[in-house]
Amino acid sequence: MEYENHILITGTTSGIGLGILKYFTSLGWKVTAINRRNDPVHECSFPNANFEHFDVQDLTAVREYFRAAAASGEIPSVYFLNAGINRVDNVDGFQIKTFREVMEINLFGVMNFVSEALPLVDHHPCLFIVVSSTSNIFPNPNCLGYFASKLAAHEIFSALDRVNRPKGVRFKSIILGPVATNIFVSGKLASKLQARVRDLITLRVDHVVPSIVRFMKSDRQALFYPKRSVYLFRLLRLISKILPGFYRGSAPPTRSNQ
Ligand SMILES: NC(=O)c1ccc[n+]([C@@H]2O[C@H](COP(=O)([O-])OP(=O)(O)OC[C@H]3O[C@@H](n4cnc5c(N)ncnc54)[C@H](OP(=O)(O)O)[C@@H]3O)[C@@H](O)[C@H]2O)c1
Repeated sequence: MEYENHILITGTTSGIGLGILKYFTSLGWKVTAINRRNDPVHECSFPNANFEHFDVQDLTAVREYFRAAAASGEIPSVYFLNAGINRVDNVDGFQIKTFREVMEINLFGVMNFVSEALPLVDHHPCLFIVVSSTSNIFPNPNCLGYFASKLAAHEIFSALDRVNRPKGVRFKSIILGPVATNIFVSGKLASKLQARVRDLITLRVDHVVPSIVRFMKSDRQALFYPKRSVYLFRLLRLISKILPGFYRGSAPPTRSNQ
């Protein structure tokens, strides 16, 4: 499927979103980057990209963006819905405030764009992509909002794809294993063994981007990547059925936003 060369990316200040921004600007695509922070140093490296500044949770701002885009006839055809956070919400008790914040950004922050873009892209080939996680195969029990939001986003995108595919509108999910972004700089892990395993399966952003781009062009609904992470998480899920509670989970630093 060929899409018009206009991609919208949420969360481009670091990590995977930044990798995707670099890739598509280098191809000469029109790129709209949605960031909650105005970062002039970051933005001046991409003089041809259009930077918009608002929080993905802010439905009024999302609506305003699409109203202006429709008025100027510049509706993107590819949506890389990447902005997300990970927070500890289940250590020393379940923290509803933190859980809600993660759900608001990772799930509603994605669906805000779907709800406002979908009526505008009717009759045009269009692609929505959500960045989910292998944690939806086997959750970190300390980060339940992360697990629930990434699982829900993937399941919703599968359902939306079945309904919208005949109209040329695709909904795809990337079920991604660990990638070396901010969280891994100072994340605390439950054991040395766990840290060693994580280091073995963790990829760099520049390794992940080409696979994501190939997947975007493919016909598949979901990318499970890399395979070794997927097999490991499936194995962990199996072991946890035999030995419930064997995995106590890792605890990312609270300031982390991966
Ligand atoms: N790294 C991994 O191992 C991994 C694995 C599976 C899935 N993922 C997913 O991949 C996506 C990208 O994460 P990353 O690993 O690249 O981490 P990252 O480097 O922390 O990037 C996250 C991006 O999202 C932005 N963001 C967060 N909350 C936002 C909000 N409310 N409104 C607008 N932008 C917001 C951040 O902006 P600020 O700079 O303003 O914070 C940042 O640009 C996330 O959805 C994450 O869950 C990551």
